[in-house]
Amino acid sequence: MIYLLGGSGYVGHAYQQLLSRKGIPFKNLRRAELDYANPALLTEALRRDRPEFLINAAGYTGKPNVDACELHKTECLMGNAVLPGIIAQACEAAGVPWGHVSSGCIYTGSRPDGSGFTELDAPNFTFRQNNCSFYSGTKALGEEVLAGKSNLFVWRLRIPFDHIESPRNYLTKLMRYQRLLEATNSISQLHEFVASTFACWEKRVPFGLYNVTNPGQVTTREVVELIRQSGVCTKTFEFFKDESDFMHTAAKTPRSNCTMSSAKLASVGIVMTEVRESVQQALRTWQKS
Ligand SMILES: NC(=O)c1ccc[n+]([C@@H]2O[C@H](COP(=O)([O-])OP(=O)(O)OC[C@H]3O[C@@H](n4cnc5c(N)ncnc54)[C@H](OP(=O)(O)O)[C@@H]3O)[C@@H](O)[C@H]2O)c1
Repeated sequence: MIYLLGGSGYVGHAYQQLLSRKGIPFKNLRRAELDYANPALLTEALRRDRPEFLINAAGYTGKPNVDACELHKTECLMGNAVLPGIIAQACEAAGVPWGHVSSGCIYTGSRPDGSGFTELDAPNFTFRQNNCSFYSGTKALGEEVLAGKSNLFVWRLRIPFDHIESPRNYLTKLMRYQRLLEATNSISQLHEFVASTFACWEKRVPFGLYNVTNPGQVTTREVVELIRQSGVCTKTFEFFKDESDFMHTAAKTPRSNCTMSSAKLASVGIVMTEVRESVQQALRTWQKS
């Protein structure tokens, strides 16, 4: 049996679908039922139920976007930096291996040679560097808290999208925003992300950090062009002049835009779909809400 934390959320819901489809028994633990931020209560539950693995898809993301994290700093720190340490403590005490959903938003830009950041590159969009958003800072702190822990996967998700229209889906966001920021990013197809991360456990690949993004990188304009070509939305998309125009008119905190390498994941036999192909697949099978 698998323990799932944050199963009620956007990412957690995709884990629920995956585990149900695979017929794997799981317990979707909700804070309303058990305060899993309490280390003693979580340890007790783990010792009682003896799950073979725990997935942490809980965290504080800010709604409708990361700007909200600037206003809710305590919740953001709790959910992203403190909670992972509490789960680590409880899983260690109960002897339960686990996986943590982290984020690629702890980077900005690309490596000096233009390639994507690897798991060996130190995060560069943190409280220490590059004037990060409060959200990114707490996600980087969460990884620091977990550094060196054993029996743990840390999976970095980046700008999730899929084929179902939803305010949390990157493709829907692009279609709904009045104006867009041109940027280059690596992104993650949500259902491939959850399947690939769970495959890490099923295949018993070495524990540790993994970037879980679709291979390659895309610019906002390229994704918009794919949307237009698909016929899902043919409006004329408008763009901000540049990042300072975006920051001045639409945002309260800087965004992370970065490229990442998922070569380490591929090296353990888990290969995700090339990014443009994955976006096209989502658009081909697009479901309106
Ligand atoms: N969505 C993205 O764009 C994105 C991108 C990269 C990484 N991530 C990471 O993926 C994880 C899940 O994100 P999500 O988009 O699924 O978030 P979400 O929809 O807001 O769901 C998160 C869930 O976490 C639980 N939770 C536990 N402690 C919390 C706290 N202090 N504040 C708020 N919620 C808390 C809640 O479940 P219960 O109350 O039911 O227990 C909540 O439903 C987060 O760690 C996030 O940083 C998300």
